[in-house]
Amino acid sequence: MAVLAARRRTRDELVSLLKGDLDFHTASSSYASHSLHAFAAKFPPQLPRVFIENLTLPGETVLDPMVGSGTTVVEAHLLGRRGIGVDIDPLALHICRVKTTRLAQDIAIQAGERALRRAGQTLGRQGRIRRFLDRLPEENKTFIDYWFAPRTQLELASLLLAIENEEDPQIKDFLQLIFSSVIITKSGGVSLARDLAHSRPHRVEHKLPKNALDQFRLRLVKSAKALEELHLQHDGIEVKRGDCRDLPLPDESVHLIVTSPPYANAIDYMRAHKFSLVWLNQSLSFLSQLRSEYIGAEKIGHLTDVPLPSRASATIETLEAKDPRKALILRKYFLDMRAAIVEMLRVLQPGRAAAIVVGPSTMRDIRIDTPVCLAEIAEELGFQVAGITERKLDRNRRMMPARFHNNGQSMIEQRMHEEHVVALIKP
Ligand SMILES: C[S@@+](CC[C@H](N)C(=O)[O-])C[C@H]1O[C@@H](n2cnc3c(N)ncnc32)[C@H](O)[C@@H]1O
Repeated sequence: MAVLAARRRTRDELVSLLKGDLDFHTASSSYASHSLHAFAAKFPPQLPRVFIENLTLPGETVLDPMVGSGTTVVEAHLLGRRGIGVDIDPLALHICRVKTTRLAQDIAIQAGERALRRAGQTLGRQGRIRRFLDRLPEENKTFIDYWFAPRTQLELASLLLAIENEEDPQIKDFLQLIFSSVIITKSGGVSLARDLAHSRPHRVEHKLPKNALDQFRLRLVKSAKALEELHLQHDGIEVKRGDCRDLPLPDESVHLIVTSPPYANAIDYMRAHKFSLVWLNQSLSFLSQLRSEYIGAEKIGHLTDVPLPSRASATIETLEAKDPRKALILRKYFLDMRAAIVEMLRVLQPGRAAAIVVGPSTMRDIRIDTPVCLAEIAEELGFQVAGITERKLDRNRRMMPARFHNNGQSMIEQRMHEEHVVALIKP
């Protein structure tokens, strides 16, 4: 009886939320710690906020199984809910950790200034820096030599050596994240790449990189202020490394899910994230191996023969006629998302909601209606579909991949103007 009433309440609330404005184009996204680090395709904080505010009570648990830069868990906590975030990506986890850990502003700034002073001194001692660079795996060095000018390498290495001297792990995490934010920016930051924040790097031969220490200094005060504003204690938030297809959570332990999975065939997170991860103790070969575990990865491996519902199978079939390999990649994407939805259903309490934010894509000129396909998959697995609604993307703010052909007709352009919220209820 109680579940029935909860389900009815959830459905009424969801239907009314889906009718409201979910675009949020005039709302600011840069409060609290939300803008600490660039992240491709992060959603506006107002989006998880409306679902959390209206579908949970204070103290209840909100999960984002593909938490990315942590928007959902920061919002959950600001609203007095318990936030759980899971992601497979080391940089996403690092961003989440820092974004949800309060640091006193003066302590954070002092630590940053200390690091800058030490880095400035180390710059004069190139032998020490060379020894540091020599300690990196050979493959990382080759990557760094290609993407970073020699002078920038010295600056970044001297910053890292200075950060290594800090003893407090939270301060270290914070300073390393500023370090990473100096590299991963829309313009490619201090690397020789263009368009890193959109996760589609291109090498620019004649780019004059900015000074890494100056960029670090510029970001330090702003970042420290953002964290002080947070008023967070870490105990209300859990950020876990894990796979959304095998969640490290007990059955029926969650009151709401708000999440935004990778689009089919859209963003390769590792392509950009390795630009800072190669500096932060992660070997390129480990990162490449990890890359194949992301939802939407192009490495196909063994695919199960689980049948998919009609819209997904028909789309795969149409694509197969044009490009069999792309059809396999799409099938893998839907199977991965199916496994993720099985897990969402398992961990959610009965009568509660999951909001999945995802957009359509285009592959070989064929429209992939991902929101409808995922809704069908969810329904087949036992979710009730409360509705699907469109939201218009503010492309610059959501940091979708920029156009990479000059004719304005590229597939990326075609697929990134709107996305949808798929609203589900566990019976
Ligand atoms: C669109 S982003 C999420 C952005 C997030 N909503 C935000 O506001 O920052 C999708 C995320 O899914 C993560 N992801 C991809 N495959 C995953 C997997 N198998 N398990 C968990 N997370 C995964 C990616 O690392 C990425 O952080």
